[in-house]
Amino acid sequence: MDTETQLSMLDRILEHRNAGRGTDAAESWWERSVDAYTCPDRFAAERQLLSSVPAVVGLSNLVPTAGSYATVQMGDKPVLVTRTEDGSVAAMLNVCRHRGAEIASGCGEASRLSCPYHGWTYRLDGQPAARRRPEHFDNLPDEGLVRLPCKEEHGLIWVCPAPDGSIPENPLAGIESDFEPLDFADHRLFATSTFTRQINWKLVIDTFLEVYHVPVLHERTLGGLIHGDYSLFDAFGPHGRMVVTRLSIDTVEETPRSERSALPHVTIVWQLLPNTVVIFQQDHMQLYQAQPGSHPGESVITVSIHVPKDTEFSDEHWQKNYDLLIEVTDTEDFVTCAGMQRGFMSGAQDHITFGANEPTLQHFHQSFEKLLADQP
Ligand code: FES
Ligand SMILES: [Fe+2]
Repeated sequence: MDTETQLSMLDRILEHRNAGRGTDAAESWWERSVDAYTCPDRFAAERQLLSSVPAVVGLSNLVPTAGSYATVQMGDKPVLVTRTEDGSVAAMLNVCRHRGAEIASGCGEASRLSCPYHGWTYRLDGQPAARRRPEHFDNLPDEGLVRLPCKEEHGLIWVCPAPDGSIPENPLAGIESDFEPLDFADHRLFATSTFTRQINWKLVIDTFLEVYHVPVLHERTLGGLIHGDYSLFDAFGPHGRMVVTRLSIDTVEETPRSERSALPHVTIVWQLLPNTVVIFQQDHMQLYQAQPGSHPGESVITVSIHVPKDTEFSDEHWQKNYDLLIEVTDTEDFVTCAGMQRGFMSGAQDHITFGANEPTLQHFHQSFEKLLADQP
């Protein structure tokens, strides 16, 4: 993030603070139908959508070196991501051409991928390598795994889970100027966890898109670090950026403007449509992905922490960060969200409200509605 962008962020935050008016605001509060979180038909349409539109599946370190592979789920589609011999990323459906077994699970390194059922093998670009007892498959056409469009840019990997789909020329719609100096590609994966929780997948994303709840829900954990006000919002096409202010902002005006840097005083949250959130936390990055589960009130959530390859901090330091992240998200946010989901299912009300002080949340829902409406 360049100096001018950082200075202008600080100016905006200080202007809010000094005027005593708090956060960037939307024009008004906005009502959201509870059906968006509970309706089975809508859930089926959303799951179908997430099985067909491009999404970020990870940072570049998902497949760190030539020969790496990783498996991810995108809606209904089991997806295999690899880094091939020439260093480029490939994506394909994780479905064997013989009888459909999943070729790989988890992640790892291999020169060939061998199907765990009958042992057919494939190269990392999905091309067929060998069949066991090939004499029994005389004249059967050699088919590789079904390739999917993918793109690696600015340290992020995008995959489109529809083989005949495509990834836009510029999928970040302008956010890339934030990402370039942060050098995501130079981060290693420190830890990751996957949870199945009784929450609609959008509720998982929602919880990262406003700070209004921080002084209350996270009073014990984050309350001493982060302001519940003074946050900024900017839209980048369908994506959004929320800049969260840390309490240390109160010391910024002691430094001459030209010498100020925003990064030590903010946490930056990027909402990348459809279902990814990336967070910058001073010295490391966090990635959150939410997939729909088997019904409207269930999601599969992947949480990961990414740290610079070259750092003075020990693994103990990163572990403490990771433990705090899990404590805050899983025992504070997701537990509260599960209660909200039960409340939605109770029929107590037919809508909920996103305040004018929650513009990132409004933008995510309005962008997603548009994406859903645009589907053929
Ligand atoms: S299903 Fe893969 S080798 Fe048979
Ligand atoms: Fe939270």
